[in-house]
Amino acid sequence: MSRNIVLSTLALCLLAACNTPAQPESTDPQTQAAAAKHPVPQQLDFRRLQGVAQSFEIDGQTVHYRAFENIVYVQNPVDTRYQVMNIYIPEAYFHGGSVQGFDADSAPIFLPNQVGGYMPAAPGKPEPNTRNGNQPNAIMVALSQGFVVASPGARGRSDAGGRAPAAIVDLKAAVRYLHANDAAMPGRAERIISNGTSAGGALSALLGTSGNAPDFEPYLREAGAAPASDAVFAVSAYCPITNLEHADMAYEWQFNGVHDYQKISIQNIDYRVERKLVKGTQTAEQTALSDQLASQFPAYVNSLNLRDEIGRPLRLEADGSGSFKNYMNRRLLQSAQLALNEGTDIPEQDWLTVRGSRAYAADFHGYARFVGRQKTTPAFDAVDLSSGENNLFGDEATDKKHFTDFSMRHSTVPGARRADNGIVRLMNAMNYIGPDGTRHYRIRVGQNDRDTSLAISAILALKLQNHGKQVDYHIPWGVAHSGDYDLPELFAWARKISQEP
Ligand code: DHB
Repeated sequence: MSRNIVLSTLALCLLAACNTPAQPESTDPQTQAAAAKHPVPQQLDFRRLQGVAQSFEIDGQTVHYRAFENIVYVQNPVDTRYQVMNIYIPEAYFHGGSVQGFDADSAPIFLPNQVGGYMPAAPGKPEPNTRNGNQPNAIMVALSQGFVVASPGARGRSDAGGRAPAAIVDLKAAVRYLHANDAAMPGRAERIISNGTSAGGALSALLGTSGNAPDFEPYLREAGAAPASDAVFAVSAYCPITNLEHADMAYEWQFNGVHDYQKISIQNIDYRVERKLVKGTQTAEQTALSDQLASQFPAYVNSLNLRDEIGRPLRLEADGSGSFKNYMNRRLLQSAQLALNEGTDIPEQDWLTVRGSRAYAADFHGYARFVGRQKTTPAFDAVDLSSGENNLFGDEATDKKHFTDFSMRHSTVPGARRADNGIVRLMNAMNYIGPDGTRHYRIRVGQNDRDTSLAISAILALKLQNHGKQVDYHIPWGVAHSGDYDLPELFAWARKISQEP
């Protein structure tokens, strides 16, 4: 269905502080005590900002909101192109009104980051998605449904000072800004719902698992983040490129034996940029490395003590077979079955048995051969330091570094350096999963996504679930490496979890 979108801006400036019958100050004694103990630094005080009244049309409905753009969310920014956030607030919340059941006190804050390829990202805006037939983007849909939207920019690897852990430090600082200004701003900072795709999905998941983790404190202090919580309420992550320490072995567990590849050129791993694919065949050296990496994966999976939904252990034998692999087969089968239930035609393919409207057996290795290899071995910590992730873990002095012992040992670059494990650790959501923190996760990875092994998101989902989190995990059929393709379902989930008292 194509939608008619009209963007308009009223040339009307509104001062948040004086024009709003702004949020009433919180009456919660705990919030008041925290505010007294940690006053918002003047520079980060939302009440100083001017908003602009804007509107757009979506499905024949006019959505009125106020835009507060390019808010620098730290006191000591090093790059104000990216350490900035755009906040959009439904106009009704400045007049005591409500939108689809939410009001100024209860509206959740949707927090979509725009990061792709671990590159620098400017904050998002309510604008049609040109990569998706000019459909309304997630920010527009969120606003139309009464969510407050706060879209943070973040530094990235090609930017001075943007190497790991800059991006997650920036996103956390943006979250702290929202908590610090909770009393001054419509929207409920206790209900922040993070969203991101690919590298941005990894960062979204990391925001969730690492809320208020002390490891990030020195970086946040240096940046001059607001003295407030960096916890989020819920995480949406599309195709997260996470767990980089183990992503190489997972990739080879999936693609070992698949020698031909269609590789994306290194310049554009960012899912938002059109990709050029280069065909080739793995060399004998790459195949030997693939065998070695694949053989390391079972010990890693077994060390996690994963269990399925009903508590059965998920493990791998030394040869890569076992209950974890069967679990992946089941998830692929579910993916196919759901598509069949929705009337999707699934042509015959040799890894999947379909009879009539039912999918029967799925074979993980057949699946890997069918979708095809997209990265050469090792997929992430390249032995020639050519990957985006090598750049992510570089620093000002050394542009690119290894971040696994394996690729350091097999490096083809004389004098190559290895990133500090303490830094590598900061970028992985898996390292921070514990009893506390964000309870709600929605994880989606397309059945046609070859950017990382399907095992990576499955392991993330399972480990979260095994720690008692509410995890909605699914592999949508036929979907490639991308995000925000199911906005009605995304916001139905966001609305449902927001009803929790
Ligand atoms: C992204 C894609 C990749 O293949 C990768 O290695 C890192 C990031 C991305 O699209 O964000």
